[in-house]
Amino acid sequence: MSDEKVIPTPERVSPRRRGSYGVDAPYAVAFIGALVVAELVVAIIVGKVLPFLAVIFVTAIFGSFLYTTRRGKFVVWAELLDGLNLRGDERILDMGCGRGAVLLMAAQHLTTGRAVGVDLWRRVDQSGNSVDATRRNAVAEGVADRVELHTGDMTALPFENNSFDLIVSSLAIHNISGRAGREKAINEAVRVLRPGGRLMIADIRATRDHEAQLAKIGMNDVARRRLSWQFWWGGPWAPTRLVTAMKPERRNDPAFST
Ligand SMILES: C[S@@+](CC[C@H](N)C(=O)[O-])C[C@H]1O[C@@H](n2cnc3c(N)ncnc32)[C@H](O)[C@@H]1O
Repeated sequence: MSDEKVIPTPERVSPRRRGSYGVDAPYAVAFIGALVVAELVVAIIVGKVLPFLAVIFVTAIFGSFLYTTRRGKFVVWAELLDGLNLRGDERILDMGCGRGAVLLMAAQHLTTGRAVGVDLWRRVDQSGNSVDATRRNAVAEGVADRVELHTGDMTALPFENNSFDLIVSSLAIHNISGRAGREKAINEAVRVLRPGGRLMIADIRATRDHEAQLAKIGMNDVARRRLSWQFWWGGPWAPTRLVTAMKPERRNDPAFST
């Protein structure tokens, strides 16, 4: 019998979390919450049906937003990561990892691999955002030994060319203002992705631009699709979309020169 150590294959990862992940866009959440209260007051004062219908409408948006940020995005990303059938030895990068919602679930699929998060820890984009909060979550989820955190801008990633097997990004690239900045982030992702590596971007805005830029710089299998209702931002008219692509293997493909 061989003495070689057998590394167990990672199990299916549950979307249930032990860490604390805050809420995305906390000022938007506060604004919509305040709107619900204000509309309710108006409806009570006016005493007509129409203002109450408006209250129901805004409450539905508020509920959808809160559900997505607290639970839905974890459920959807758990499925997406499960579907990748990772071996466990990959190097994974999460661009704009925040408090680690996706990064730490990805790390749970790893054995000898590494999950690397890069972020500017902006609190307007996620409540309580900080490198320390993410580090505490990595400990809470039992993956601190597989996680690396970097403070950096995704438009100028502090990593070598071709150094990741998989790059993910969730609700982050749209936060970069201006199309040129977002294109830079996409180019950077492709630069640090290894040939044959995969890219998955879930975002609420500018996904058509992400898709067009990936196609323009020569990525393979570029696709864009709606994610399930569990990832809606305020109802069916505000879905999150997933953009996926693969870096070509051939050295003379344009994606190598970004
Ligand atoms: C809405 S949060 C999402 C965080 C995490 N991906 C998630 O799904 O929970 C967006 C994140 O993008 C980060 N971010 C925004 N602009 C960035 C930039 N230029 N470089 C790196 N991170 C950035 C913010 O600090 C924030 O953590």
